Amino acid sequence: MNGIDWSNLSFGYMKTDYNVRSYYKDGKWSTPTETTSENIDIHMAATCLHYGQEAFEGLKAFRGKDGKIRIFRMRENALRMISSSHGIMMAELPVEVFEEAVIKAVKLNERFVPPYGSGASLYIRPLLIGTSAQVGVKPAAEYMFLVFVTPVGPYFKEGFKPTPVVILRGYDRAAPLGTGTIKVGGNYAASLAAGHIAHEKGYSAVLYLDAKEKKYLDECGPANFFGIKENTYITPQSSSILPSITNKSLMQLAEDMGMKVERRPILEEELATFEEAGQVGTAAVISPILRVDDLDENKSYVISKDGNAGSVSTALYKKLRGIQEGDEPDTHGWVTIVS
Ligand code: PLP
Ligand code: COI
Repeated sequence: MNGIDWSNLSFGYMKTDYNVRSYYKDGKWSTPTETTSENIDIHMAATCLHYGQEAFEGLKAFRGKDGKIRIFRMRENALRMISSSHGIMMAELPVEVFEEAVIKAVKLNERFVPPYGSGASLYIRPLLIGTSAQVGVKPAAEYMFLVFVTPVGPYFKEGFKPTPVVILRGYDRAAPLGTGTIKVGGNYAASLAAGHIAHEKGYSAVLYLDAKEKKYLDECGPANFFGIKENTYITPQSSSILPSITNKSLMQLAEDMGMKVERRPILEEELATFEEAGQVGTAAVISPILRVDDLDENKSYVISKDGNAGSVSTALYKKLRGIQEGDEPDTHGWVTIVS
C-alpha cells in the first residue's frame, strides 16, 4: 500500500493527503475544514512568530488486527492544549472542536495509518498559533488551529533497546514557575542546544535536573522519566515538567499490575538504586534507559546491567501497546475507534 516501507519508518515528516484547520475570529471558532496545502499564510507580525504564542500536541492512531483505527486518549490532549492556551494567553479551543478536527484528519488520511504488526503508527500533530499582528508584547486577537498527521516509526532509532542519557548541568529546559508544565514551542527551542550536545556525544536525550536546586530529576527533552525498584513505579513530582499522558497511563497500568506507584521528588543519587528506568511519551512510548552520565560531576549510574530492557518495562510496554492496538481490553476507556 502506498509504496511505504512501514516497518522501517523513522520519526519524521511525510506528506499525507490532507490537514484540517479551524480559525478563531471575533470570539468564535470556525468548523474544522480540510485542505491539501502544506503551507500556511500568516501576517509577518503574527504573535506566534515573534513572541512564541504557539502550543502543540502529539498523539497517535493505531491500526488493529481487526482493521479498525484507534486513537489513544485524545480528550487528554485536548485538555492539555487548553491548559497550554491559558498559560500563554491564547484563545481556548473547545474539546469538541479539537476532537472533531483530529478525527477528521485521521479519517481523511486513513491510507497512511500503518498496518497492524508493522510497529509503526500515525502520529497526529495538533498546533495552535496566534496569527494576528502585534508589535507590543500582547496576545493576538486571532488564532489558527491545525491538525496534520504523518506515519512514524520509533522516536529513538534503537526502539525498545536501552539507550544512555546525559545530565548537562550547564543547561535548563524550564524554570520552576515557568512554562515547563505546558506544551509550548519555546520549551523545545530552549532544549535544542543541550539536545544537540547530547546527540553529538552519543546520548539519546538530556535528562534535566530541576533548575532551582539542581538536585532532583525533572524529565528528558522529549519525555517524562520513571524508575522501577522493589515493585514500585516512581516518577518525578515537579513544577517544571510536562504532565505526560503516557506516564499517567503507565501509572494506572502499573497499579493494575499490582505495583505501588509513587510520584515524588527524586534525588539524582537515587538513580543508583533503580532496577529499571525509562523515558516515556507519545513519541518515545517507553524507551528504556541504559545508563545516566552526569558529565560535569563525573558520575555514572548504570541502570541496565545486561543492556536489555527490564521485565517490568517490558510488561508495561506490551500492555500499553496492546491497549493501543486493540489486542488488550480497553478497561479504562482510553481508546476512540474511528473506523
Ligand atoms: N515531556 C515532554 C517534554 C514532552 O515533549 C512529551 C511529549 O509529548 C512528554 C513529556 C510526554 O507526554 P505524552 O505522554 O503526553 O506524549
Ligand atoms: C510527543 O511525544 O508527542 C512529543 O511531542 C515529543 C517530541 C516529538 C517533541
